[in-house]
Amino acid sequence: MAEHVYICDVAKHEGKDVTIKGWLYNKRDKGRLQFLILRDGTGFMQAVAFKGDLSEEEFEAARRVTQESSVIARGTVRADKRAPGGYELSLNHFEIVQLTQDYPITPKEHGIDFLMDRRHLWLRSQKQWAIMRVRATVIRAIRDWLDDHGFLLVDAPILTPAACEGTTTLFETEYFGQKAYLSQSGQLYNEATIMAFGRTYCFGPTFRAEKSKTRRHLIEFWMVEPEMAYADLEDCMRIEEEFVSYIVQRTLTERQQELEILERDTSKLEQISPPFPRITYNEALEILRQHGEELPWGEDFGAPHETILASQFEKPIFVHRYPAQCKAFYMEADPEDPRLSLSVDLLAPEGYGEIIGGGQRTASLELLEQRIQEHNLPREALEWYLDLRRYGSVPHAGFGLGIERTVTWICGLHHIRQTIPFPRTLGRIYP
Ligand code: 4AD
Ligand code: MG
Repeated sequence: MAEHVYICDVAKHEGKDVTIKGWLYNKRDKGRLQFLILRDGTGFMQAVAFKGDLSEEEFEAARRVTQESSVIARGTVRADKRAPGGYELSLNHFEIVQLTQDYPITPKEHGIDFLMDRRHLWLRSQKQWAIMRVRATVIRAIRDWLDDHGFLLVDAPILTPAACEGTTTLFETEYFGQKAYLSQSGQLYNEATIMAFGRTYCFGPTFRAEKSKTRRHLIEFWMVEPEMAYADLEDCMRIEEEFVSYIVQRTLTERQQELEILERDTSKLEQISPPFPRITYNEALEILRQHGEELPWGEDFGAPHETILASQFEKPIFVHRYPAQCKAFYMEADPEDPRLSLSVDLLAPEGYGEIIGGGQRTASLELLEQRIQEHNLPREALEWYLDLRRYGSVPHAGFGLGIERTVTWICGLHHIRQTIPFPRTLGRIYP
């Protein structure tokens, strides 16, 4: 019996007989020749069934096999420049494990609702396969970079007693007679863990009951949040540009094939390296004004504004020092102008919008107490957080990078919903 190998490894077996266990992705019927595209999770490969090389029964199976039937195929690996992936399998054995009837996702075009209802099957399609593999590499790159730069992984809780990013997007649940909320961000807990471990990060799912339907918002998304003790806004930006450049370059190296499947023009991504341009909120308003977009001072940018700003530059850009009034309660005030906060967003190029939010955190107990009051936040639930300013408070900073926004940008996708295996969007929780 020929060795079972994965499609990603066939190059190592050129000229040898191997067994592939997978599914039929697509086929072309040329009479005595059947061209079968197989997939096994690690890749896609063409197998050729020639009538003369198989028993009558096996050839008949190759002829009638249907899309997404599970199959076991044995054959000789041959190098062939014309074949996708560069190798082809000349079959000498073919067997159907289960014959699939009426697989709903055919090679023709389908509407997005149709596909979203069948997300559990849609993940088998080549583009979705490519996106998930890019996502896995982005996550791997994130963890490697942080682990190699002195950040300790310290996870934050999912069930929390108070809001972190504003009360309008909270998911409420009941917790043994108390109110609890699904985490919007692990940041506040990171601020506790850095005082114990110096540099930390948390990485996990976060939840926001976003009531607007956009192509950049998910209800459940994954965020990596690094935090640093004894760090300021400048440090934050320096770390972000190194970090994001690494993620992009590593993905370009390891996921060339996938980005090709996605037809991503990678020339723009190749240029991503530090430093990234830095502009202030006030400078950003001026750029917008020059482009005919008057935005009242103090208002946050919307997607169209971000697109105008980003299109002025080739690389991701930092917009820093937003008015305190449009940012969260924990932002440090700018000593030069207390109406401003030491906050910074990173906007991706090519109109993909904000991928990182972060900045320097308020170190002072008094200012924090005042902000909690101004934002109408429940002080009792944040008493522990105030302790961090009572016992050895230090300047500190950090940020959160949205995984799906980053993958949307790197893959060059129109909509964020394809970047997570099972998207939770406005009104959709199936499958
Ligand atoms: O800018 P945000 O709200 O910042 C925070 O949550 C901070 N507490 C993070 C920190 O400093 N530790 O969110 C950070 C990032 C955004 O830039 C975006 O990439 C992503 O999280 N994000 C979303 N992604 C998908 N769907 C949503 N609804 C998102 N909301 C935020
Ligand atoms: Mg933000």
